[in-house]
Amino acid sequence: MKKRTDVLKEAIEEKVIDEKKQGESLVLEAKEGNTRKLFIESYGCQMNFSDSEIVASILANEGFNTTQRLEDADLVLVNTCSIRDKAEQTVRKRLEKYNAVKRTNPKMKVGVLGCMAERLKSKFLEEEKIVDMVVGPDAYKDLPNLLKEVEEGRDAVNVILSKDETYGDVAPVRLGGNGITAFVSITRGCDNMCTFCVVPFTRGRERSRDPQSILEEVNDLATKGYKEITLLGQNVDSYLWYGGGLKKDFKNASEMQQATATDFAQLLELVATAQPKMRIRFSTSNPQDMKEDVLHAIAKHKNICNYIHLPVQSGSTRILKAMNRQHTREEYMALIDKVHEIIPDCAISQDMITGFPSETEVDHQDTLSLMEYVKYDFGFMFMYSERPGTMAARKLEDDVPEAVKKRRLVEIVDLQQKHSAFRTKQFLGKTVEVLIEKESKKNEDEWSGRTQQNTVAVFPKEHYKPGDFVMVKINECTTATLIGEAVGYSENM
Ligand code: SAH
Ligand code: F3S
Repeated sequence: MKKRTDVLKEAIEEKVIDEKKQGESLVLEAKEGNTRKLFIESYGCQMNFSDSEIVASILANEGFNTTQRLEDADLVLVNTCSIRDKAEQTVRKRLEKYNAVKRTNPKMKVGVLGCMAERLKSKFLEEEKIVDMVVGPDAYKDLPNLLKEVEEGRDAVNVILSKDETYGDVAPVRLGGNGITAFVSITRGCDNMCTFCVVPFTRGRERSRDPQSILEEVNDLATKGYKEITLLGQNVDSYLWYGGGLKKDFKNASEMQQATATDFAQLLELVATAQPKMRIRFSTSNPQDMKEDVLHAIAKHKNICNYIHLPVQSGSTRILKAMNRQHTREEYMALIDKVHEIIPDCAISQDMITGFPSETEVDHQDTLSLMEYVKYDFGFMFMYSERPGTMAARKLEDDVPEAVKKRRLVEIVDLQQKHSAFRTKQFLGKTVEVLIEKESKKNEDEWSGRTQQNTVAVFPKEHYKPGDFVMVKINECTTATLIGEAVGYSENM
């Protein structure tokens, strides 16, 4: 019999996987005249899924149409994640699968994209013989040249990180989506240097994308019938456009440049005003960079969703300091109070890490009591995984035993489930706005969509259709799902 901890851990992994459609191969409309076949799949964060759409767009101009059959592919690309060791192991297993397929299709070429490519660089070619091409997150525009190298029988590597690449000029093709919700990236990289995190090493320095090109992409999505966009960045709150380049240059720049700069709250307002009939979401916020004017922008615009993903990682000020998070437990709690004061019905979700080096039972209790204070709507919880090259790996001993990390993880997951159930119950008897996304997995007579707060709601289809904003009266609920009936269209949207 499986141990309870394993079952729970699998449930968590599953939730994350379900949420982010891990490893789904993506297919787009065939471009006429294209004869080569590309199989592309993505792991990890939403940004990787968004990047794969940029890659598919670049390769469509090189004669590639996407395929869902690995066996048919001329080129296989895997967009990889390095955030935890397990994420890397998953990719290694996929490479074994490609290897088996290559035996029947020897002409097939294999490229590795994303964070693992950046972390391992040309070492990848030595470690995994199947790999022909290694391409870091800032080098996708070089793919046509790298492909030529590969076709001429040479291995190809480009892992150069950039100070200004934002792919603002590449129109992404929308892969495997529902035609209703889409991601739009607004920043790349991260300057925060949390001591546990590999992202600043794999995705480089933080840079923001020109608001004009963001607006153009959003307007284009609206024309194509999309109803909801999620603005993406590792740390959206530090979005700042003043003409390109690294943010630190701005600090020394002239007042005139300051006067023309656009920050995240302004960007939110720009997008929300340009498309008042579209829902706007954003991810991820960082407590240390989130400013009050962002909260006011959410409160002011009906179409900016009342939901903030606000990772905290730990409830202990001592551990937060060791993680190089720039706030205390009390400052985070004050921010939560502010959110509720300015946006009373705002949902909040967390990311949490158990077993960071030196974490004691007292620190863990601090995490549990912080969770009790906030009562998060959702959460993504992980055991600490030491990542090579990070400050934590270099300076701190990974000294919390695996079994203790796991037990603490189970405890926070249990508590989160309790809080999720509590939050979901608050909707009982209320009527809420739901954007219909697809048919319910469990019942073909029902639609499934999400509330502004990001909670899934299901209800009988009647005459409604995907893409409609519908008012739904909530009659029942499970821990994570609202069950109700439609009472009409939303007047706000
Ligand atoms: N700002 C980013 C965070 C990326 S990592 C974003 O856009 O989401 C996502 C989450 O993974 C982090 O919030 C953290 O909880 C977790 N994580 C990152 N590094 C980790 C590590 N070394 N071990 C365990 N979990 C980690
Ligand atoms: Fe990682 Fe911290 Fe940036 S978690 S992505 S270094 S905000």
